[in-house]
Amino acid sequence: MHNATPASIPVIAIDGPSASGKGTVAELVAAKLGFHYLDSGALYRIVALAAKQQNIAWDDALAVAECAKTLAIEFKNSQVFLNGVDISEAIRTEEMGKGASRVAVHATVREVLVDLQHSFCKTPGLVADGRDMGTVIFPNAPLKIFLTAATEVRAQRRYLQLINKKAAGDDTQVSYADILQDLQERDARDQGRASAPLIKAEDAILLETDNLGISQAVEYILQNYQLITNF
Ligand code: DC
Repeated sequence: MHNATPASIPVIAIDGPSASGKGTVAELVAAKLGFHYLDSGALYRIVALAAKQQNIAWDDALAVAECAKTLAIEFKNSQVFLNGVDISEAIRTEEMGKGASRVAVHATVREVLVDLQHSFCKTPGLVADGRDMGTVIFPNAPLKIFLTAATEVRAQRRYLQLINKKAAGDDTQVSYADILQDLQERDARDQGRASAPLIKAEDAILLETDNLGISQAVEYILQNYQLITNF
């Protein structure tokens, strides 16, 4: 079906629910090791945005998959381009987070994105962040982390992020209750779908960050990576 990724290239798979902090942690781990970084959630967000721009309903599996096939996606430094247009900000909204979770339910859509995700696996290594990195996309990753925190802790973190954005001039209304409800819905959809649901891989290390700072989580992952490379 798909080319397997080369076993000689190390992959650190970091999966977990929304707002667990895994994006920040994964980026820092990649920077420390000089590895490439895959933000797989961004791909689903891009598909949701493109579908919306083309008036395609997120629930229309076939139409969304067809749309996904035509996209020219480019990552340059920390910016994302869709068909040459910088959409880095446009995909970061709460609406596109929800849209991403909706389009990600479809097996047909997930299938379209597999090769693109594998193409990030290049020397000297990759840190891949998402929901199914350790279970489906990079099942042979030598290090898998399942990073999570209580829903209320994640909602509080997301709330503070949005408040800070608002202070910086974003005029979107922010309510903790709405954020909590959104997260609960998103978790339920990501965990409950039939295709590549959010689940801890059997061989993944559980990392609960309720009482753990970003740098401690990064350090923990780096230590675990060192353990397996010194084997
Ligand atoms: O990580 P994120 O919040 O940017 O992801 C947005 C949505 O995309 C998430 O709610 C579910 C989906 N997603 C997925 O199904 N599989 C992935 N590997 C990454 C994200």
